[in-house]
Amino acid sequence: MESNSEVVNGIHDEFTDLSKTRSGIEAVEDITVEANIHIEKISLQADQQSEDVTEALKQNVYAKVNKPVKQKAAKPQVTFPDEDIIHEEPTYPNQPFAPRLPPPRSPSGENQPLLSKNRLDAEFINDFPDDSVFQTLVRNAETAIDRGVYPVRIAQGSSGSYFVKDVDQKTIGVFKPKNEEPYGQLNPKWTKWMHKTCCPCCFGRGCLIPNQGYLSEAGASIIDSKLGLSIVPKTKVVHLASETFNYNPIDRAKTKTKKYTSEHFPKFGKKFHRIGLPPKVGSMQTYVEGYKDAEFWLRKFEADPLQAHTSREYQLQFERLVVLDYIIRNTDRGNDNWLIRYDKPDIDDENDAPETEWSMVTRPIVKIAAIDNGLAFPYKHPDSWRAYPYHWTWLPEARIPFSQETKDLVLDKLSDMHFVESLTTELHELFSQDKGFDRSLFDRQMAVMRGQILNLCKGMNGGNTPEEIVNMRPVVIEKTRELSLGGRLRTMTEHFSQRIQDRKPFFSW
Ligand SMILES: Nc1ncnc2c1ncn2[C@@H]1O[C@H](COP(=O)(O)OP(=O)(O)O)[C@@H](O)[C@H]1O
Ligand SMILES: [Mg+2]
Repeated sequence: MESNSEVVNGIHDEFTDLSKTRSGIEAVEDITVEANIHIEKISLQADQQSEDVTEALKQNVYAKVNKPVKQKAAKPQVTFPDEDIIHEEPTYPNQPFAPRLPPPRSPSGENQPLLSKNRLDAEFINDFPDDSVFQTLVRNAETAIDRGVYPVRIAQGSSGSYFVKDVDQKTIGVFKPKNEEPYGQLNPKWTKWMHKTCCPCCFGRGCLIPNQGYLSEAGASIIDSKLGLSIVPKTKVVHLASETFNYNPIDRAKTKTKKYTSEHFPKFGKKFHRIGLPPKVGSMQTYVEGYKDAEFWLRKFEADPLQAHTSREYQLQFERLVVLDYIIRNTDRGNDNWLIRYDKPDIDDENDAPETEWSMVTRPIVKIAAIDNGLAFPYKHPDSWRAYPYHWTWLPEARIPFSQETKDLVLDKLSDMHFVESLTTELHELFSQDKGFDRSLFDRQMAVMRGQILNLCKGMNGGNTPEEIVNMRPVVIEKTRELSLGGRLRTMTEHFSQRIQDRKPFFSW
């Protein structure tokens, strides 16, 4: 039996081999590369059994759901959808003299505070025990909404995106609800409505899974954190409700009726699970201060070039943006979708510095923030109409080979198959939250991502520039699993097969 370290080294070598053999592969369209990972699964039989049981249960539930169930004729009464009614055990046991107090009411008009044990409430709790900073940010946003400081819709952009405030009206985050995304059913922007109504055939981006932009936003943040890029403001999936969001008239009418009922018939109103508007699921991104659209600073830098030291800092930040975009195959990186912060130094010429009091001199700061990552993680490389280029390809910084600093930061991690697979595991955890999650599409998304990582590693090892990497032929690396029997042990073997995608989009924009 192979030891663990042997397995790891084997995998590492095989993945490195994938990049080494690529030039040979380019001549052939479709080649399977043997990169087998042997994972001893002693408890696999048990796993398989539990999977079978789960499947049987699913089938059972499915059969029950589809079977018409005879129900007792109910007394005529005002009805609300089941999800709106509380089905909890009573707070107090039903004893003859037990006090019958109403549950505490939260300031947001909820009959149950959000921390209730109710399953439906639990779904909407924004809990981030591992990230106290983000937890505080979300709590501040919730408190502000409870006190009537509502998120404000951002005028620019193609979707319903909102600046989220704290109680002092300070912007602290950007919230993008799933159902107000560019192609979501409640997108408030009329241009997208026109697009959907008048030109349905060209609607959406053929290579992306529609209406999962909020997951793509949070997924980009995972890639950023795992690689230590520090250019994506922390982004996670949260649930928020606010008067200022775009709701359909039915939801608003329902809320009004429930409010009226609760005020005039409190006994009945107590039964409602929630009084306020339904929370929306979406991505929440930390707001970064002092940044401007890249377009603004790019023009300035053109007219007034950065000094040598700052220019170097900027190049390193730029390379991190390239790494992120290339891995997630961002299809929407226009110069309005990344931000630059540039704090000029107090002194104009760096050469003056030695004569100046050092304590008086502030170092120039140049930082990039990669926002708007909602149109990434395609399940195939763009191949139909548009190529969705990265707009940074035309910048002079894209013609400089990757620096040693950037290689040191990411290359070891990206060349390690285990690291890459840990990325796909975290993304699976995130993406599978969506009700429309489709495992086979997810596998294809990851196949594109692995291909991008392979090209990036190859390009960095070969001393290429970002522009050259963008021009490499797109690759997909698919993973398949096979179960084999060997004595008492069953072995799971993972095969990785690499394929070059040759079909090109019609337009290059
Ligand atoms: N995290 C952020 N920090 C600061 N400003 C932001 C942030 N996210 C977005 N913005 C501002 O809001 C604008 C619209 O945001 P964007 O994410 O591009 O939304 P859309 O998806 O609607 O295009 C950006 O151009 C930028 O000025
Ligand atoms: Mg945008």
